Amino acid sequence: MFNKRVLNWYLKNKRDLPWRTSKNPYYIWLSEIILQQTKITQGLPYFLKFKEAFPTVSDLANADEGSILKLWQGLGYYSRARNLHYSAKYIINDLDGKFPDSYNSLLKLKGVGDYTASAIASICYNEATAVVDGNVYRVLARYFGIHTPINTTNGIKEFKKLAQKLIDSSNPGTYNQAIMDFGAIQCKPQNPLCNSCPLNDSCIALQTTSIKDLPVKEKKIKVKKRHFNYLVITNENNETILEKRKGKGIWEGLYQFPLIETLKETHETELIEHDFFKSRFNKNASIKLFNSQQIIHKLSHQHLYTRFWLIHTSEIKEEFISWNNIWEYPVPTLIHNFLENYLKDKV
Ligand code: ADE
Repeated sequence: MFNKRVLNWYLKNKRDLPWRTSKNPYYIWLSEIILQQTKITQGLPYFLKFKEAFPTVSDLANADEGSILKLWQGLGYYSRARNLHYSAKYIINDLDGKFPDSYNSLLKLKGVGDYTASAIASICYNEATAVVDGNVYRVLARYFGIHTPINTTNGIKEFKKLAQKLIDSSNPGTYNQAIMDFGAIQCKPQNPLCNSCPLNDSCIALQTTSIKDLPVKEKKIKVKKRHFNYLVITNENNETILEKRKGKGIWEGLYQFPLIETLKETHETELIEHDFFKSRFNKNASIKLFNSQQIIHKLSHQHLYTRFWLIHTSEIKEEFISWNNIWEYPVPTLIHNFLENYLKDKV
């Protein structure tokens, strides 16, 4: 029912696009690559220019990269143009000019992923491989009321599986283009035309007023990697040093061992050359790595790659505190866990 209605809608409303009059895989490939990350109105003149300048795969393969990039100018994501050229040469030189004719063989072309392989295989070779682009995610998420985020591994799998189940296998190429056009024109991201929608009697998002909430996209926060080297000092009086973290930022006011933060993973030789290290310890200090495997402490916005370095020194200064009083100080979990580990071996 879902796919019949989408197909019927398409027959009345489809866009007239120049590549839709052809099943030539070269033209379909060209159009699909141009349309990635590009609106149809913007991509259309580029398709016509490319078709005229390079009417066959062989023309594209024989062109020099400069002229291809020149023609691509203004579209952005130039790796798409370079991959087109690379793959055209591959088709001519390695496949004897025979365009790959199945989903699996299309996937072997550089720059062709699940979406493009599905589009070409269905449109040109009638293979029932479902396309899932932004339009398809939106239509399916709304109609079936799916809240799984579309930019997660689970989401990608779930939507592909559903799209594959729904595809009209007698007409896969038309169906794929129908659902994409339906998403672009009827089930638009903003202000979709629900009043005139042929699916409005059974759309879950419409029934539950969640059109605006679907599809769900997970906000990916950029996680910062930091490298922490804690100096766990012991002197001859069984004392150590803890410092209070100052300033804004994580763990403000908690105590920690003296910390050397580095841009990369650090080795002993670099550490003892560090200004901070040299200024605090005399030549008699010895250093030994406690955890050869970095501890990765995960906070919401940062991952702390942490090493604890055991340092023995003969120095005795006022700032030292007794190891016996170590548990009196509020410390971050990262330090607490270390202390439990370290001290259980010592007793
Ligand atoms: N967007 C990208 N390719 C498309 C196609 N073949 N039909 C509809 N929308 C598209």
